[in-house]
Amino acid sequence: MSEHLNVTIRDRICQILLNRPDKKNALTMAMYEGLTQALKDADANPEVRVILLGSTGDSFCSGNDIGDFIGAINSPNAVQAPLQFLQTISSLAKPIVAVVPGVAVGIGVTMLLHCDLVIASDQASFQLPFARLGLVPEGGASLILPQLVGHRRAFELLVMGESFSATTASDLGIINRVVMHNSLQDLSILEAGKLAALAPDAVRQSKAMIRNISQSQLQEVLLAEVEQFAARLKSAEAMEALQAFMQKREPDFSRF
Ligand code: COA
Repeated sequence: MSEHLNVTIRDRICQILLNRPDKKNALTMAMYEGLTQALKDADANPEVRVILLGSTGDSFCSGNDIGDFIGAINSPNAVQAPLQFLQTISSLAKPIVAVVPGVAVGIGVTMLLHCDLVIASDQASFQLPFARLGLVPEGGASLILPQLVGHRRAFELLVMGESFSATTASDLGIINRVVMHNSLQDLSILEAGKLAALAPDAVRQSKAMIRNISQSQLQEVLLAEVEQFAARLKSAEAMEALQAFMQKREPDFSRF
């Protein structure tokens, strides 16, 4: 298990915390692998009824580690660990409660599209900067977001890629609820506890029934997105954007 993940089981709730606060919980390959394993273990463990996905520090998740992206660009496996994580989180039987205290970027947002109850602090912010990074959407966002919010708002979120507030995320249906920052943890545990007290088979069967997107279509889209994403990672546009982030400057796309 990655040193940057904390996993605990208590009162039928498996709490998985992203724990790399100094990097805003940016996800490394080891974190993806650890997350995939922790989610599979929780789904299979009869002592667990609910998965609570959260973070330490003031951020939820700043997306894929950009240094890792640059280092892995020529590796055919660059996107395998994220893909396996997405395939796993999108097909779990047990309910997932996500707790978002602060910034959520990229896959830090798209993973929320596969959670069942998403509770965010009023200080949280959300951003899907794929095109801004010379990349394309992942995590099923190209399928789920247009269905959820329509083409124009999905275009704005995924292509313009500007940051938006927790209230906007709630209005768009990306999250369930916005709460005061200092009550976030207590309220999330309370909601997870309520879910853990319900009839477990009924909860799981209901979750399966109300997924409004066919699993086979979603799994196909996850693969198709990852193929295009991997190709984009090798593009000069993406390299300019990713290096600009590491060099703490604005990207310059004027030569393309
Ligand atoms: N990958 C690698 N490092 C990251 C990171 C990421 N996705 N997100 C943040 N970090 C690092 C920063 O480089 C910085 O490291 P340093 O202290 O060694 O300089 C540290 O985390 C703190 O980030 P910083 O940018 O100083 O914090 P902030 O509060 O000003 O901004 C964000 C927070 C999340 C808005 C900003 O870091 C950001 O935009 N990150 C990139 C998000 C992104 O594009 N993700 C990929 C999507 S596909």
